[in-house]
Amino acid sequence: MAVVSGSVASLLGPKAAPSLRRKSSNAPFSALPGFRVVPRPPVCVGNPRGRVRGSPRCEATVDLVEARTASRASSASALEQFKISADRYMKERSSIAVIGLSVHTAPVEMREKLAVPEAQWPRAIEELCSLNHVEEAAVLSTCNRMEIYVVVLSWHRGIREVTEWMAKTSGIPVSELRQHLFMLRDSDATGHLFEVSAGLDSLVLGEGQILAQVKQVVRVGQGSRGLGKNIDRMFKDAITAGKRVRSETNISSGAVSVSSAAVELALMKLPKSYLPSARMLVIGAGKMGKLVIKHLVAKGFQRIMVVNRSVEKVDAIREEMKDVEIIFRPFTDMLPSAAEADVVFTSTASETPLFLKEHVEGLPPVSDAIGAVRLFIDISVPRNVASCVSDLEYARVYNVDDLKSVVEANKEDRLRKAMEARAIITQELKRFEAWRDSLETVPTIKKLRSYADRIKASELEKCLQKIGDDALTKKMRRAIEELSSGIVNKLLHGPLQHLRCDGSDSRTLDETLENMHALNRMFSLDTEKAIMEQKIKAKVEKTRS
Ligand SMILES: NC(=O)c1ccc[n+]([C@@H]2O[C@H](COP(=O)([O-])OP(=O)(O)OC[C@H]3O[C@@H](n4cnc5c(N)ncnc54)[C@H](OP(=O)(O)O)[C@@H]3O)[C@@H](O)[C@H]2O)c1
Repeated sequence: MAVVSGSVASLLGPKAAPSLRRKSSNAPFSALPGFRVVPRPPVCVGNPRGRVRGSPRCEATVDLVEARTASRASSASALEQFKISADRYMKERSSIAVIGLSVHTAPVEMREKLAVPEAQWPRAIEELCSLNHVEEAAVLSTCNRMEIYVVVLSWHRGIREVTEWMAKTSGIPVSELRQHLFMLRDSDATGHLFEVSAGLDSLVLGEGQILAQVKQVVRVGQGSRGLGKNIDRMFKDAITAGKRVRSETNISSGAVSVSSAAVELALMKLPKSYLPSARMLVIGAGKMGKLVIKHLVAKGFQRIMVVNRSVEKVDAIREEMKDVEIIFRPFTDMLPSAAEADVVFTSTASETPLFLKEHVEGLPPVSDAIGAVRLFIDISVPRNVASCVSDLEYARVYNVDDLKSVVEANKEDRLRKAMEARAIITQELKRFEAWRDSLETVPTIKKLRSYADRIKASELEKCLQKIGDDALTKKMRRAIEELSSGIVNKLLHGPLQHLRCDGSDSRTLDETLENMHALNRMFSLDTEKAIMEQKIKAKVEKTRS
């Protein structure tokens, strides 16, 4: 896997302040030993007892009771096996990871194969969560990126499973994917999402669509089990960071977007003298199509042809831009419309190309004044214009990746704005990390409380029995109960105080975690193991159902 923290960090610039999380959680991906993906069954490698899927007992003669017993025994042995390996899991704990590729690491040819349309996000999340080491998942699939955010029980295994899933769904071999994938862990993963949401990682710095797309991930994910407490909170905090960056810095001034860059690119490619008479066609009247139209209008174009499957969206655009001549053409007229255009912008969500080589070959030539070359500016992912169209002498095709040349122009200004935004991201990241850190001690707090409550209840019971019901008035009984609660609460107050670390006091996370481990040891709470076993058990049961 070529791109790890290092290369992404170089793309993103200096990362946010060091996180509160323990150092081991940010081990670089290069620490993944021999990431050679060999198909093998989960967990049971080299250990026949560890078979997880499929009981060997499958003879038709096994009666129902026996079958149930066998299944329970097999479940138990699978669970035992998982428990044996729990110690290994315990050395690392659940991590947040992002695995993906973006416009900075992979060409559009690859991104389009991995793209997951919004309608399929729930299915993708379901599949990801059913992987053995994945607890929570979200998919951020846009024209610039395909990123999978997961909470993994084991970093190495989780990453491997997600990468294999990506290879399976895209048809791209893991060996090829590895050249382009990046992966980040814990605070680096969170920081990355915050930067993405703020538009810092976008092709066009500060563009607004990405924030809407991050919001959409939360909207679509609501109610799905993939958006568990960590991912849900991380995405919501990313939205807060994205909003703050836009409102507190001038990063989005100039209203830049992929669509405006697309229009800029077209204008750069057309001879200035020809601009006023250039014939513009926009295919697709969704969010992007509408923005292309808006930018064309802002550049002075007063007559624009629009092809869309349905007329409603075009009518709505017409309603908004009454002074402009917007000519609607149905989809069946796409080729005749292209025949009348010098520049064709494509921005539909079609999953297959709309323009093939043979279609473009059949179009009449455009004016010599623009070099007899028809421009196709395709901002769709997957692309709407087949790549072989660019083989034609009289057609020039540009896709989203070609917009880089437009946005490079104001690089210095972009970097300065990005610096301002990073300060906000650092603040938001600290808040999220403090929240996440505070979660770690919650199980110990709960266990310690219930341990103390159990002792209190049993000692109370003994005491009340000794005194005898007859000798006790209601008032006396309440006084004894209050006495026992008072003692427990007072004794617990100190230890519980030392388990709370939400970033608002001077105690460090390390100190709090030391306290947590000490209390776990002293009271034999063993919360980490219990939680891990609980999670593993749930996975085993799910696998078997
Ligand atoms: N949103 C972004 O920030 C962004 C940025 C850069 C690039 N893009 C890319 O731009 C494209 C459009 O995105 P969008 O955000 O504008 O989507 P959108 O608002 O959902 O609009 C989708 C458009 O595509 C049309 N369409 C959908 N399926 C089609 C099909 N099978 N054949 C022909 N037309 C079809 C729709 O026509 P109807 O109105 O008839 O349904 C609509 O005009 C996508 O490929 C996306 O990856 C999006």
